[in-house]
Amino acid sequence: MPTEDRTPAPLEDLDKIIVDEAAIQKRLRELGAEITTAYEGREIAVIGIINGAIIFVADLIRLINLPLQLDCIRVSSYRDETFPAQAPEIIDSIRLDLNGVNVLLIDDILDTGNTLARVSEIIKSMGPASLKTCVLLDKHTKRSVDFEADFVGFKIPDEFVVGYGLDFAERYRQLPCIGVLKPELQNPPQWA
Ligand code: IMP
Ligand code: MG
Repeated sequence: MPTEDRTPAPLEDLDKIIVDEAAIQKRLRELGAEITTAYEGREIAVIGIINGAIIFVADLIRLINLPLQLDCIRVSSYRDETFPAQAPEIIDSIRLDLNGVNVLLIDDILDTGNTLARVSEIIKSMGPASLKTCVLLDKHTKRSVDFEADFVGFKIPDEFVVGYGLDFAERYRQLPCIGVLKPELQNPPQWA
């Protein structure tokens, strides 16, 4: 069948699964408990970096037993290898007043660190009482800035992954697990 006639079939398009659905759900309960304990009943503001963190945030906040406010920031991270140090662009900013608030900033994946470093700077300039960060995935090998998250779901090898919020060309975010696409699907011309 010509590739342009092909409808993407999410799970079948994976070459391998890196983190399965059960492992994600188990780790989410642990993270929810860790975060609940870390703040000891204080109110927090969760800031999700969208689109990538949308599913992780939606599931995780329901496992955090604290009073909580939610807001999002929309960021576009340039993935162009020739400009790895280029600053991520803020497309839509935070509306909550974070002055004096305990902020938990959440992203799907920590890779070069540019996105979380940049958004952390923005939040710090808003005068929060504290700032901690949480990521579902940590690809430690690619860091270009000195940045570590306070709460990490899984450390993974340096491979491009999709699923559970992570996309390739805005696709595959709905997968319940995290995996690597089949090599022939990693750059289909019709998705360029
Ligand atoms: P960083 O700024 O390099 O740390 O990258 C963070 C952003 O890049 C994340 O919010 C993701 O949107 C994207 N990203 C990094 N690695 C992957 C991946 O393996 N799959 C999908 N998106 C990724
Ligand atoms: Mg993305």
